[in-house]
Amino acid sequence: MTALKNDRFLRALRREPVDCTPVWLMRQAGRYLPEYRATRKEAGSFLGMAKNPEIACEVTLQPLRRYDLDAAILFSDILTVPDAMGLGLYFVEGEGPKFERTIRSAADAAKLGVPDMETELRYVMDAVRVIRRELDGKVPLIGFSGSPWTLACYMVEGGGSKDFARIKAMALNEPAALHRLLSVNTDAVIAYLAAQRAAGAQALQVFDTWGGVLSPAMYREFSLPYLQRIAHELDRGEGAERTPLILFGKGTAAYLEDLAATGAEGVGVDWLVELGDAARRTGGKVALQGNLDPATLYGSPEAIRAEVKRTLDSYRDGNGGSREGHVFNLGHGMSPDMDPDHVAVLVDAVHTFSRR
Ligand code: CP3
Repeated sequence: MTALKNDRFLRALRREPVDCTPVWLMRQAGRYLPEYRATRKEAGSFLGMAKNPEIACEVTLQPLRRYDLDAAILFSDILTVPDAMGLGLYFVEGEGPKFERTIRSAADAAKLGVPDMETELRYVMDAVRVIRRELDGKVPLIGFSGSPWTLACYMVEGGGSKDFARIKAMALNEPAALHRLLSVNTDAVIAYLAAQRAAGAQALQVFDTWGGVLSPAMYREFSLPYLQRIAHELDRGEGAERTPLILFGKGTAAYLEDLAATGAEGVGVDWLVELGDAARRTGGKVALQGNLDPATLYGSPEAIRAEVKRTLDSYRDGNGGSREGHVFNLGHGMSPDMDPDHVAVLVDAVHTFSRR
């Protein structure tokens, strides 16, 4: 394989010195880009894009052609795993993801197994292989998965939810059934990430998007232990060849110390916490990724630059005056109505203001 031309992102995850802070953006490929909308129109649907490795590759590379990003993220979705478990994923325009079948009981959970990665999820691994070939060492490629809890939210609710009523009722009334579901999901996530790594992913991120809807006691019972198991059991190699694992949680800043103690190399932070506080609390144990409020992209170029600078400085102040160990990102994903020109302002500001 070609040597990496830009390894800032991987070096920052190892907390090694870099010439400037690396940046990528969650949902950097997506509907805010006119070229994405054009490709989607041609392909017919989101799933049609994700299931075609050549198209998935094209869409992964689109933001890298426009912006000086320091990492690419596989174009796919967290819900490919429950889909491969037989739940039947589909998208309703304007309503988001849905499943034809849901998991509501111990009997439903007992029927689930870990899908075969090189048959049922082969299209994902093929996409990783095609993207690595096409990237040709430009920047590292990030593979990803949903967290066991976040996947379970969609599998039990049958789609997105505002109140998570069904899965919370399951946690209260049938905790053993939910643990059974979370346990299969964890086995599947570990196998999925390992397969992406084997196919060529150079960093791995777990999205615990819905960890923050749980009470602390419930988070510690239904999400955290499964993240710990992933961090322990996922083989990522050794030394400089080690594939870093990033745990991203939304609304989970209360558990930063616990997340930093899992053994993951990086922790993703949303914008509800001061990044400097997050750095102080994790004390150099992990690299931190984040945490600009995505809505900052609705601001003017001047406002974006000021907020980028504030975020960079906050990290440095909380990290003993050093900028190392920081991967710049948003605190959550981009939205379809964001201005592509503002993304260029953000990326350039990160590199300019953090130049060592
Ligand atoms: O970051 C990237 O550019 C990589 C691609 C990526 C997508 N989804 C593409 C996508 C990643 C990493 C995801 C993860 C994902 N998917 C998460 C976790 C991250 C997060 O945002 O919290 C979740 C919860 C999902 C489930 C999901 N898939 C939702 C809620 C939606 C949006 C539905 C909508 O209509 O807004 C999707 C679809 C989806 N996944 C889109 C994209 C670009 C939009 C598809 C389209 O309509 O073209």
